[in-house]
Amino acid sequence: MIWRERIAESNAARDAAARRRVRRTVGKRDGMRCEVDGRALLNFCSNDYLGLSQHPEVIAALRDASVDGVGSTASHLVCGHHALHDALEREMADWLQAPRALLFGSGFVANLAVLQALLRKGDVCLQDRLNHASLIDAARLSDATLRRYPHGEVGTGERHIVAAGGAPALIATDGVFSMDGDVAPLHDLVAVARHHDALLYVDDAHGIGVLGPEGRGSVAAAGYGVRDVPLQLATLGKALGTYGAVVVGDEDIVQYLSETARGYVYTTALPPPLAAASLAAVRIARRADDRRDTLRALVARFRERAAQNGLDVLPSDTPIQAVMTHDDRRALAMSKSLEDAGYWVSAIRPPTVPEGAARLRVTLTALHAPHDVDALVEALARARDTAFEAVSP
Ligand SMILES: Cc1ncc(COP(=O)(O)O)c(C=O)c1O
Repeated sequence: MIWRERIAESNAARDAAARRRVRRTVGKRDGMRCEVDGRALLNFCSNDYLGLSQHPEVIAALRDASVDGVGSTASHLVCGHHALHDALEREMADWLQAPRALLFGSGFVANLAVLQALLRKGDVCLQDRLNHASLIDAARLSDATLRRYPHGEVGTGERHIVAAGGAPALIATDGVFSMDGDVAPLHDLVAVARHHDALLYVDDAHGIGVLGPEGRGSVAAAGYGVRDVPLQLATLGKALGTYGAVVVGDEDIVQYLSETARGYVYTTALPPPLAAASLAAVRIARRADDRRDTLRALVARFRERAAQNGLDVLPSDTPIQAVMTHDDRRALAMSKSLEDAGYWVSAIRPPTVPEGAARLRVTLTALHAPHDVDALVEALARARDTAFEAVSP
């Protein structure tokens, strides 16, 4: 059967390139310590940057709200829109200083929904080459023309807008790039958007809660608001420690999305207890400067120690620190030896990153201790040396 042949062929190709993927099963968790397939590890690959996923107030909010039931029972426009969803949207809009917020099932779905609702045939959608897969797929699934520019090279991107000869343009970018950890060149993007009357959409999945005043993210950190960035995505499953996503921004655009975005209209609303947990998490995140300070200090410590040990780390001031191996097998070997030493750091290989850009994606959180970071860097340096010997051609 053609389908089986196709799958077998793909499996064989991924086997040959060391690109098979395996799922690991997490058991008990206690802060960043967790049981993985029965083994105790210190987690350095989660996006729980502020350590809120196990915060007692977040857990209590979910538990208390679930006495009324779990599921929302319908989509928002039918009868699934609960007062807790509404309260979460209001809190997010207030936090991110935008007129409106709209809750989606996940960040992936939100990106598909937003771009499909806004883009039409003849439009141009400009994107950084390293944008998240959901933004790229969203533009591909729309009728617009997708133009991708080399990472960070906004000037090259602008030429695509000029070449489109006045076609409506939407610029979509990660705020913090999910695999590299660097922040988008927002000043350049805002200037280009202004000049060409383009709509700028910033997916700040990894910046919200972490960067800027009150943790309002990369847009606020760069000094911009809804006038310059009319739409932003904040995901709830990373620094906020829960699940779901919220699009915030311009009143008219968000109202339009609430009536037309297929990924919003044709899906069951998130469970209200989850909205209660997210609301509690947002309230904690807003006042969590102590956690953000801890995190910043850990990032600086990691970078300093990594440089002393000669690790090849991409430039990034965020909790996402990419330790480059370039070679897929070397990334896997390093990840395995880190695991043997008690650390969980996953190997990231193409197609998640470009060819030749395999790496270990280390993520730091406010729950790590300085000595954990020191020990991790030592383990990384040892893993690099052993992997180099083992995988050298
Ligand atoms: C930049 C970015 N956007 C969107 C998403 C998708 O968000 P979610 O996990 O809520 O679907 C992710 C990661 O998952 C991401 O890294």
